[in-house]
Amino acid sequence: MNKVVVGAQWGDEGKAKITDLLAQDADLIIRYQGGCNAGHTVVAHNKTFKFHLIPSGILYKGKTCFIGAGTVILPEYFEEEIKGLINEGIDVSGLKINPLASITMPYHTEVDGYSESTAKKGKIGTTKKGIGPTYTDKMARIGLKIEDLYSEDALSEKLDIILPLKNKTLKEVYGLKTYEKEEILALCKKYAEIFRPYVCFDWQKVLEDAKREKKAVLFEGAQGVMLDIDYGTYPFVTSSNPIGGGAATGSGYGPTMIDEVIGVAKAYVTRVGEGPFVTELTDETGDKIREIGHEYGVTTGRARRCGWFDAVTMKYAVLVGGLTSIALTKIDVFDSFDEIKLCTAYKDKRNGKIYTSYPTDVFIHKYLEPVYETHKGWEQDITGITEYEKLPENAKKYLARLEELLEVPISIVSVGPDREQTIFKSK
Ligand code: IMP
Repeated sequence: MNKVVVGAQWGDEGKAKITDLLAQDADLIIRYQGGCNAGHTVVAHNKTFKFHLIPSGILYKGKTCFIGAGTVILPEYFEEEIKGLINEGIDVSGLKINPLASITMPYHTEVDGYSESTAKKGKIGTTKKGIGPTYTDKMARIGLKIEDLYSEDALSEKLDIILPLKNKTLKEVYGLKTYEKEEILALCKKYAEIFRPYVCFDWQKVLEDAKREKKAVLFEGAQGVMLDIDYGTYPFVTSSNPIGGGAATGSGYGPTMIDEVIGVAKAYVTRVGEGPFVTELTDETGDKIREIGHEYGVTTGRARRCGWFDAVTMKYAVLVGGLTSIALTKIDVFDSFDEIKLCTAYKDKRNGKIYTSYPTDVFIHKYLEPVYETHKGWEQDITGITEYEKLPENAKKYLARLEELLEVPISIVSVGPDREQTIFKSK
């Protein structure tokens, strides 16, 4: 069975833990989009590992872990991440980079930083890791790919086209520093060395062999459906396709290789950065969720915005994300709550109009308020429960209601950060 793990909300749903669990049964793990804007925390070997780009499957010996063609790589960040793993004694020999992945150049991070710090209106709240500008150049066909680093002629020819354009924009649009060709060539030489041990020029053969031998493939997404460039809360989104479909373009395999798409969702919702969030709680309940759930960014350290579970966006995520089941994480955060709210619709404050389907026009979201149903809490510690049947009745009722609303099964329930704190619910 080949599975895709997708964030079903605005990222930070606990994908890393689910990916880590599913990676045990996978032979090949492929991260298909995004870059080091992602922050994945995995607790294993009694240690906490923080991943940004490298698939967390690397923690298991003998797995092949690919950084796919749909990703963007910031070389210095990658270098730091790999060094960190090596220092912890992790065997990274299974790591491979698709040479078609894009490179984040210094001017990409500079433009991202500039745009975010000078924007008075329309600030996105990006991670300032150059994600948007790197994907912009890729789409404009003026980006650099990993494979370019190993062909002096190609690199030189490309830079002759890219640099005059880049420098004009850097100087005239942003008032930023420009680059000499020699400077970029020297950087690229350095990058070539950083990536050399991992670049997989025969990736087609590796993927073909795995397919022929019916190896189990796990496709690892970053961010979440609501941050998808096409379907998310545009423009408050990232610049790639975290949806299940992204695995079909960013991994090197097409859609026919995918059997299941598991959407990871928290039992509540969080969001970092700007953008609409109808169920956001700016009161002490929101603070309580943040403190109990340790809702602070892995990549930026920012406090995450918190709110109740939103079944309206989640139903939408099931559809556009292509989800076949849900892994629900952090349900234990509600252990001390006497009441849990669940948003089943939105109401337009201006005219009372009720939305049960997600309105894609985010401009109107400021006029929307959540319509809640209230569930009784279970008020007991569930972090040690490992069987679905042993969950308190109120927790089971809450889960059953989610399944009913979302019309998709909840296949996994996570009750804590450790691998053992996981309930696999049979379908
Ligand atoms: P960018 O991906 O850095 O361009 O940021 C665009 C938006 O996506 C911002 O709101 C970020 O906070 C958000 N974002 C990017 N990566 C993640 C992530 O891994 N988790 C949660 N939000 C993210």
